[in-house]
Amino acid sequence: MAGLLRKLFGKSEPQIASLKPFDVEIAVDGSQTLLEAALAQDVAFPHNCTVGTCGSCKCRLVSGKVSALTDFGYTLSKEELEAGFILACQARLKSAVTVEVESPAANTPPPEQFQGRIARSDDLTHDIKSVTVALDRPMNYIAGQYANVLVDGIPARSYSFAAAPERNGRQEITFYIRKIPGGALTERLFAGQLSAAAVGIDGPHGTFYLRQGDGPIICIAGGSGLAPLLSLLQDARKNRVRRRCVMLFGARTQADLYGLDQIEEIARDWLPAFRFVPVLSHEPEDSDWRGLRGFVTSHLAALLPQGDPAEFQSYMCGPPPMIDAAVTVMTGLGIPLASIHYDKFTDASFAAR
Ligand code: FES
Repeated sequence: MAGLLRKLFGKSEPQIASLKPFDVEIAVDGSQTLLEAALAQDVAFPHNCTVGTCGSCKCRLVSGKVSALTDFGYTLSKEELEAGFILACQARLKSAVTVEVESPAANTPPPEQFQGRIARSDDLTHDIKSVTVALDRPMNYIAGQYANVLVDGIPARSYSFAAAPERNGRQEITFYIRKIPGGALTERLFAGQLSAAAVGIDGPHGTFYLRQGDGPIICIAGGSGLAPLLSLLQDARKNRVRRRCVMLFGARTQADLYGLDQIEEIARDWLPAFRFVPVLSHEPEDSDWRGLRGFVTSHLAALLPQGDPAEFQSYMCGPPPMIDAAVTVMTGLGIPLASIHYDKFTDASFAAR
């Protein structure tokens, strides 16, 4: 009878999703995505955009079937799709499933709500600002994480912390914010209309953090994606991590390079070796630039350190096409997909791909 009623009225029984490593089972009804059901049942499932563009809710389908609200392939690489990854925010269950979620760092602080005010705003380039927010109380986070930011009532955007955390929390936190043409928040910020504006912070969030290991670290930043990598590398340096590091920074022109002083400081006493390579894609041919040109991913294979790629780890933040291309190059060279970690931009200019 229940089956007949379901056929007649189109109602579907909830399906059960087993979530590893949380070791919980949740019921997911036919109108919910896997992410919606997890959050409704108080599971701290990693997520950010909730619209299928950032990849934060990426998880591996171990068993069962799902359907995709939007094609997972818009955000996940070919290699990730082949390895069985799905996006929880775009997945509806067609059967009971088991999914494996990336574990947050063991010492990840729980997200909280903070209040603050913009204390400083400095130009890094013509379209990227460093914005420092003074908080109502110190905030703890893991290097590489991000927060959702609400400024003067303008809807939340997610920005990565641009500096290493401090032992007792940071009273001031800094983000790098790129101007988005027509963007409600950034148009006002770049017009100088948000000095001392009230800021609401929800965080920290995210699973982009330095994993344990001894092998080399390959970092790639594109455009305004330098912030989480600076945080991660400053923290690694403070903690005396001893691993070879190659850092590539893709920008359009020399005028779009920033954060070079911080990178130099990280590199200065990094052991055993830190190599920094900026790569410019649109630098005028007749300029005085003597460095590499083109896209970072075209130079990646030649710049990887010596050693067994199976032991390398990669950390990237930048536009989705850069990350997708880099994942293809790196997995092709033998770096395990599970050792490649990234944060994709989710601002409007990329969400509309
Ligand atoms: S939360 Fe699912 S892709 Fe962003």
